[in-house]
Amino acid sequence: MKTAVVTGGASGIGRRTVERLLTDGWQVWSLDVAGDALAQHSTQLGAGDRLSWQVCNVGDPISVKAAFDAIRNGTDKIDALICSAGVIRIGALEDHTPDQLDLMLDVNVKGPWLSVREALPMLRKNSSVADPARVVFVGSIAGMRPKVGSGFYGATKAALHVLAGIFAVELGPTGVIVNAVAPGTVNTPMVQALVGQSSTSGYKPSGKSPLGRVAQPDDVVDVIQFLLSDAAKYVNGAVLPVDGGTRAAYVKP
Ligand SMILES: NC(=O)c1ccc[n+]([C@@H]2O[C@H](COP(=O)([O-])OP(=O)(O)OC[C@H]3O[C@@H](n4cnc5c(N)ncnc54)[C@H](O)[C@@H]3O)[C@@H](O)[C@H]2O)c1
Repeated sequence: MKTAVVTGGASGIGRRTVERLLTDGWQVWSLDVAGDALAQHSTQLGAGDRLSWQVCNVGDPISVKAAFDAIRNGTDKIDALICSAGVIRIGALEDHTPDQLDLMLDVNVKGPWLSVREALPMLRKNSSVADPARVVFVGSIAGMRPKVGSGFYGATKAALHVLAGIFAVELGPTGVIVNAVAPGTVNTPMVQALVGQSSTSGYKPSGKSPLGRVAQPDDVVDVIQFLLSDAAKYVNGAVLPVDGGTRAAYVKP
């Protein structure tokens, strides 16, 4: 049985990733800062010992080490790490506070780096270039086509895309391949929480894509599953937009 660790597993894209991996027969460790939501999700899924969860603040090295210590107690091999934990704070750059920037850098950039660092020995175990372990970062098209009103968020996602590329080249030869998905607007609690804040901040959600709808978490998880599949074993260092074409061309409002 293959083993995956999913950060941000309590909500949105991470939560759906956990569910889909369980359906596909994986052993899953779900990490999140929201312990109550993790516990409720676990009870709801009833997956028995195939689902374990750990409260973890991905931006805190001590918390990340403790979570991976718990995982190390249960297994010595991880086949996939999916880093979905993320936060957004919106507003004009001049209105952001240093605390907001620190939070986004901690969760969106330092978090995936710390998670890879802790997971690496278990990812490398028994993996090879021919049969590599996988890391998938959940980036954003905000990091590819920056948007007024979410400038610092976009900057953290652009940084995450850079980390995916560097990790891909550094770790690929050791049997760990690293890619990112870059979703457009996805219907999750993160986006739902922005409704109401956006009118005062200058931020506008991208809304419907050229395909005529907003993405659902499953649209993103489909691509994560592809990146975890045998079909993607030669895909390394990619940042794959999952946005229905939103960023492909400018549409005058
Ligand atoms: N929803 C979108 O439109 C959209 C678009 C592009 C990218 N993304 C990215 O997708 C990822 C998932 O977002 P989502 O929409 O599912 O949001 P979400 O808010 O539904 O889920 C994010 C999860 O991350 C967890 N989290 C936050 N801070 C954490 C921390 N310090 N440590 C551990 N867990 C923490 C939250 O508790 C939550 O469970 C994020 O990285 C987000 O930036 C989302």
